[in-house]
Parts: sequence; structure tokens; C-alpha cells
Amino acid sequence: MKNYIKHDPWKIIEEGFDMKNHTASESLFSLGNGRFGQRANFEEKYSGKSLQGNYVAGVYYPDKTRVGWWKNGYPEYFAKVLNAPNWIGINVTIEGEELDLAKCKVTDFVRTLNMKEGCLNRKFTAELSSGKQIKVDATRLLSMTDDETAVIKYSVEPLNFTGKIIFSPYIDADVKNEDANYDEKFWDEVGKEVSGNEGYITVATKKTDFHVCTGMKTKLTVNGNEVETNAQSLVKEKYVQTKIEIEARQGQIITLFKFAAITSSMNYPKHDVLSACHAALSRAYSSGFDTMLSQQIAWWESKWEHGDIIVNGDVAAQQGIRFNIYQLNQTYTGEDERLNIGPKGFTGEKYGGSTYWDTEAYCLPFYLATAEENVGKNLLKYRYKQLDKAIENAQKLGFTGGAALYPMVTMNGEECHNEWEITFEEIHRNGAIAFAIYDYIRYTGDKNYLVDFGLEVLIAISRFWAQRVSWSEAKEQYVMLGVTGPNEYENNVNNNWYTSKVATWTLKYTQEAIAYVKETEPTRYTEIIEKTKFDVNKEIKKWKHILDTMYFAYNQELDVFMQQDGFMDKEQILAKDLKPSERPINQNWSWDRILRSVFIKQADVLQGIYLFEDEFDLATIRRNFDFYEPRTVHESSLSPCVHSILASKIGDNKRAYEFYLRTARLDLDDYNNEVHEGCHITSMAGTWMSFVKGFGGMRIKNDKPYFAPNIPEEWESYLFKVNFRGAILEVFVSKNEINIKNLSKKSVPLTVLDKNYTINAEQTLKI
Ligand code: BGC
Repeated sequence: MKNYIKHDPWKIIEEGFDMKNHTASESLFSLGNGRFGQRANFEEKYSGKSLQGNYVAGVYYPDKTRVGWWKNGYPEYFAKVLNAPNWIGINVTIEGEELDLAKCKVTDFVRTLNMKEGCLNRKFTAELSSGKQIKVDATRLLSMTDDETAVIKYSVEPLNFTGKIIFSPYIDADVKNEDANYDEKFWDEVGKEVSGNEGYITVATKKTDFHVCTGMKTKLTVNGNEVETNAQSLVKEKYVQTKIEIEARQGQIITLFKFAAITSSMNYPKHDVLSACHAALSRAYSSGFDTMLSQQIAWWESKWEHGDIIVNGDVAAQQGIRFNIYQLNQTYTGEDERLNIGPKGFTGEKYGGSTYWDTEAYCLPFYLATAEENVGKNLLKYRYKQLDKAIENAQKLGFTGGAALYPMVTMNGEECHNEWEITFEEIHRNGAIAFAIYDYIRYTGDKNYLVDFGLEVLIAISRFWAQRVSWSEAKEQYVMLGVTGPNEYENNVNNNWYTSKVATWTLKYTQEAIAYVKETEPTRYTEIIEKTKFDVNKEIKKWKHILDTMYFAYNQELDVFMQQDGFMDKEQILAKDLKPSERPINQNWSWDRILRSVFIKQADVLQGIYLFEDEFDLATIRRNFDFYEPRTVHESSLSPCVHSILASKIGDNKRAYEFYLRTARLDLDDYNNEVHEGCHITSMAGTWMSFVKGFGGMRIKNDKPYFAPNIPEEWESYLFKVNFRGAILEVFVSKNEINIKNLSKKSVPLTVLDKNYTINAEQTLKI
């Protein structure tokens, strides 16, 4: 755990430069705009340890799988979101000496991510070995309003000398991924041009042939007045640079503005990618830095206006939740249904930028409540469009008749995980994708989704479950063999309760969906039945049989659901008895020892209780929570949020708050000692859930919002806003009152603490 980020409600601040923290800070201070993003690498040369990272959403490379012995069923490749051309680079030379923070004396270093304004700033004073001192003030933003553009304002002030400063802004496309399986580079050069203060490079990905053009254009000012520069250019393979020299006087503020544009063949025909980049760059250049900044501030102001959460009386908690909301919004804007949310977003290479079950199980609720309705729908349609691939994926594993197994990890619908032993059998992801359809409809009321897209997906997933269970002669029940539950610390188990639960739930819900479409849209119903060749009687009969006879692991004595068969054979020790030096166990224990141990990586049975809570009474929830929580080591970022929501549910506010802090500040405080690899973007949506669903007690019941708020002792009050079916509700909770304001122009029926109310337009309900 680290503790160097200064607490502040709106800013992430690092004071003082400590090279040890740099790669962690590169993750924490990342920027993105939904279309592209990057780690907070320095503009000027840095010879210390750094993970270079620029990423363009949706642009990936299928890196051939590397295993010892090949087995049927291995994915051919592990998709990787590429480290894309570096457009931020500005080398700075002072009287012949290069500015490099790893090599000079750095004082007054402050790095700030301003979440209100959506920009990154860095200030420092550097003393070079020559004794020359300069002050640097650099601000960078990736435009949210014109998502092909970005800008850097890089100012230097000579503090104790007058002399020559050379700026060399460049674009470097000769970059690679640290996680490349065969240490190869993934980009080929297509073309480049540079003239005066402007340069472009177009590169194409090997195999997938995505074309990406990156452009830059610079402008120089001295004390705010633009000066003519006689930029010289330098080109190398996959590299363009311009060189600007200036005789700087002591005390002058010399500012280099570097405008950038990134366009790709995701959005243009390949032959237009360069001209589109010209156009985008010219838009940015003619807007200028100040206009781009004010547009950025305005965009974020409106985002915060609708999606902020305010915590009074606890700055650490406030900063934590805003950081989570900020990162989620700069990772995924929901405007493009081809895109999704990688577990690390634009903050690192791990997980390859691919889509996991995280999207449906964790991210969807955040976007449903804080973004336009089409955003949640786009997330669902992403999977709908990949249904054929999911059917193919199941076929490869021996399933037939239109059964679909969605991938655990994917870019384009094909399975591309790289940890076969673990992820292969995590078939529970299929359940999350089915549940998301229900969750979306429950929230939005858009039942047409079933008619248009949802039912086809549900039928295919149900078909998979119906084939994936086996009939046990011994038990005279259906069982689910050889799976890995959400707890990845045990693989290939039998009868993982969560997987069986989500499977049977899908079989039930699909029947309801079939009945609904049949009744409301008979023509479409017939079309779907024909398209899917669904044998209504036979298939539904089997589903019913499974539902009637499914086996669920259960321990009578303890009266709790069993995570899987044989769970009680394990040595029943508790996480609190682990020595601090042993944690996290995944960095200190052998995999063999982890697999045999009782320790649970992340919510598993509790994940099921969280999803299907209406099926259980409070005593059951409490018993299972009290049994599994002490055995959980929370070594997945997706875990503490679920525990926090359940702790709130059973009225254990103290623990709800502890888990909340752990999820909200997971990255800021680097709980699991891994933030240098990137931030946990998908679990940030879990943090939001532990606030709104946990403390706010928000659910959707009977087509209405339902709230059962509680407040941690440490807080004076809190406030959050949620969209619900065209209305915006602002929920304020203090120690002794709940105020719910309806900010919209229509009345909203809702339930608070089990009592029904209707709040008229622009009125407040006070309880
Ligand atoms: C978790 C998975 C998750 C993946 C990506 C793993 O550590 O165990 O549940 O899908 O990370 O976030």
C-alpha cells in the first residue's frame, strides 16, 4: 500500500518527485477521451523506469498465443490493445544538455490531475548538471468535445541563465508493447510527412491492418506573444520530429503548444485517415489551447452536474469516488457501440484492453444510472453483434444447435484469453451477459430490447447451459462439472454454486422472455423461432427438467450455500490469520498452495447473493456473508464492492464503509501493490455501485426506484444523482434526513424505506 497522493476533493495531487512512484503515477494520472487515451508519461525525455502507453480504442493486435503444449480449445491469440504512436513527446535541450528528470535535481514538483477540468498539469524546477535552473509548467488535455484532438501547453522559464533552448516535438511510432508475446513490434509504417511545424505519421497494425494517423503541429510564444520559428525537421523510420531553437532570456516564459490529432480506420476508409487527421489537427490548431480548455471544462461541468457524488466530512472518500467516476467517463463515453471497457481502460497494457464479464456485471449499472439510455443499450448490443461468434466459440468446444458461449476475454467476439487454465472454465460469464439484459430492461423499462435483440441472445445462452449440465445417475439430479467460479483461486471445480445459480436463472428468465415476445410481437416471435430453429416444446421441456432437478451445493449444518463440492474439506483458516507478509497471497504463495487453500479471491457465492438478493431473506444473506467474508482475500479489485453492498444490506455499516474505502481508494492507495500496471477501471464502476446501491440502498422494484439509505458514521452527509427513465433524481442523505429532489419536469413514483411516494416535477421529498 502506498500513501503519497494528497487528499483533495477535486484533484489528484502528487507533491515531490520520487522515481519509485513514477510508474504508479503514470497510471493514476492517465488521461482519456473515450476514443484514445494514455498513461501520464512525461513529455520530455525520461531515462528512468516508465511504462510508455498510448492507446486507441478498438485498435488491437492478435498476438499469437504462447504456451508449452498446445491443446484443442486454446485460443489462437491474445488480443492486445496496442501501445500506439507516442504523440506527447517534446525533448528539451538547454544549452546542449538534455532535460531528463531522472538525471537532474528536481524541486517543487507537483503533478495534478484536475478532475473538474479534465486536464493534467505538472510543475517543477529542474537544476541540470551545468547548474542551470529552469521552471517547467506543462498542461495536457485530450479533448472530450472533439475526440480526435488533444493539446499540450509546455512552458519553461530559465531561472538563472540566458541561453539556447531547443524544443524537439516528435511523434514516435516505433513503439512496442511490453507484454508482446514474441517481443515483436506490431506497427508497420504506411507513410509520413513533415514540413515546418507540422508532421504526420500513418501506421498500420500487422495482421489486423488498422490504420492510425497521428499528427502534430506546434506554436511558440514568448511571454504570451507568438514568435516565428524556423522549425527544422527530422524523419526516421516511423518517426517525425521538428526542432525549434530559441535564445531564451532569464525570466522569460517560453511556451510550446503542441496540438495533436489521431484518426483511425475504425472511423474512416483507409485512404482518408490522413486527410481526416489534417482536418482534425487544423480544427484543434485554429481553436487554440484556451478554447480547447474552456470546452473541456464545460464538458466536464455538465458531466459532473449529472453524475457527481458528494461526500461531506470525508475528503479521502470524496476524492476516491470522484476519481472512479472521472476515470470511467474518460474511458468509455458510450457513443460507439463497437467499443467496450477494458479492465485497465487506457491506463496500462494488462488485460489487453479486451472485454470481460466485468462490463455486464459491474459497469452496466453505472452507465445506466449516469449516462444517456443508449449507452447501456450500446453495451448490450456489442454482445448481440457478437452472437454468431459466441455460437462458433461454443461449436469449437463441441456444443451444438445454436448454443452460445461468450468469450471470457474478447475484442471481436472471438475468445482470446491468455490464461487457459483459469479463464477457460469461467463459463459464468455467459450468465452475466444474460443477466445484463434483464438488468437493462429492469432499469430502463425498454422491453422492446427483448424483441429486437435480447431474446436471441438468451435462447443461445440457455441452450449452452442445457448442454453444459450433466445428469448424475448417482444423485438423480443435474450437476455442473468442471467449472471455475468467479473465485479464480480454485479451478476446475464441480458444482460451483454461483455458476449453477446463474445458469438456472437464465433458463427461467429466457422462458419469461419467450412468453413476452410471443404475446406482444407474434410476428417477430415466429421470425426468431425460425431463425434460431428453436424447438419450443422439446427444448423448454429439458430446461424445465433441469430447473426441477438441479443440484446446488449446500451445507446443512452451517445452513450456507457451498461455493462448490468439497469446499469444507479445505483447512478452514481465515484471512485475518494470514501474516501481513503473506499478503497478497498471489504475490507470495505458490499457485499450488493457493489452489488448495480455502482463500477466496473475490466474491463468489456472495456474487450470486448480490445478483439475486430478492430470493433470499436477510438471515440467509447474513449467514452466507458471515461465512464467506472472513475467507475472502479480495485479491481481485472486483471483490470489495460486492462485499460493501452486502454489508450495507445487512446493516453492517462499519464494514460497508471499510470495504467502500478499499474499493474507492484501491488505486489511489495502491492496496494490492500493482497500480503501476494500470488502474482497475471496471472495478471503479463497482465502487460507484457500493455507493449508490450500498449506502444509497438503490434498487429498481416494481418498475420504480427504491432507496433504503444508510450513512457511514464518518460522514456528515452525502449526495448523488441518478437518471431514471428520463428523470433525474438527486438523493441527499444526512444523519437524520433523506431529501430526494426530482430535477425533472415529470413526476416520479418511487419507494423509500418501503413506503411509496410520488415526487412531482422539481419537488423535493423530505423524510
Ligand atoms: C478477475 C476476473 C476479472 C478479470 C478482469 C481477474 O483478476 O478475477 O473476475 O474478470 O480480473 O478484471
